Amino acid sequence: MNQNLTFKITGLKGNPRWLDSHAVPLRDTRGNITALLSVTRDITERKAVEDELKRSNAELEQFAYAISHDMRQPLRMVTSYLTLIEKALSGQLDDNTRQYFFFAIDGAKRMDQMILALLDYSRVGRKTEIKTQIASRAAVDEALLFLTPALEASGGSVEVSGDWPELIASRDELSRLLQNLIDNAIKYHEPNQPPQVEVHGSQSGNSFRVEVRDQGIGIAPDQIGRLFNVFSRLQSRSRFEGSGVGLALCRKIVEHHGGNIGVNSAGEGYGSVFWFELPIQPSHFISGENDFV
Ligand SMILES: Nc1ncnc2c1ncn2[C@@H]1O[C@H](COP(=O)(O)OP(=O)(O)OP(=O)(O)O)[C@@H](O)[C@H]1O
Ligand SMILES: [Mg+2]
Repeated sequence: MNQNLTFKITGLKGNPRWLDSHAVPLRDTRGNITALLSVTRDITERKAVEDELKRSNAELEQFAYAISHDMRQPLRMVTSYLTLIEKALSGQLDDNTRQYFFFAIDGAKRMDQMILALLDYSRVGRKTEIKTQIASRAAVDEALLFLTPALEASGGSVEVSGDWPELIASRDELSRLLQNLIDNAIKYHEPNQPPQVEVHGSQSGNSFRVEVRDQGIGIAPDQIGRLFNVFSRLQSRSRFEGSGVGLALCRKIVEHHGGNIGVNSAGEGYGSVFWFELPIQPSHFISGENDFV
């Protein structure tokens, strides 16, 4: 079995260096190990860049969290005082002014929803539980439970098939990932066309793949690139409600688990297949990261 080891040593001048060692056993014709071939690289510079990136990412996330958290309070004041003023003036308002109040309050409420979604987004990987061995099938069942009212209102169906292995993941994040993808698959369809959604799980080696297939409105190929960005929406709010954070959240969850996410669609009107792949065991469970100093 190949072995990877990352460790720190202290050089002769007292400076710490990070080394990465990869070892492969050499065997004779009977399969007995006769020697070990090992290559060791000095990765101190790469480690310093990675640490700096981690630090600045953590700072950015803290910043996003603080902004979204602290902005809600003054915004709530705007909404409540606008509502109070509207009530106080109720007898004196003409139709136009009443509509202006409606737009102002509606805008403030929508901003609050966007901030809440952003808060949720900034929490991924920070405020969620640690990764443990979980049953992926339980995560999909939980997601479906949350979506029961939306599914019943749509008159459609969701079919779950394939393999749903156990894997090392955050149960809460996996459930939210599935919930967002299935929620979109239920939502983005023509009004006269009840959604038919298929959720298929499969396992190949150390990789767990899920496909969420719908027969809905589909996606134009030139729009696919921006779908996973925060606040990126292809449809107007009057046609489909939403804050445009769901897929960005999905991407962040998948990245937090060292996986990939994407979508295939033959174009508008041809449905979509959103997919993601996660490692069943994260790489450091296989290779191990050790600090010997
Ligand atoms: N299954 C789908 N079929 C067609 N278009 C989709 C599908 N899923 C997502 N989209 C498009 O991608 C956009 C972004 O989706 P995303 O889930 O991030 O946001 P949302 O659904 O608008 O809001 P929310 O934050 O409430 O999920 C959507 O507005 C829609 O235009
Ligand atoms: Mg969505």
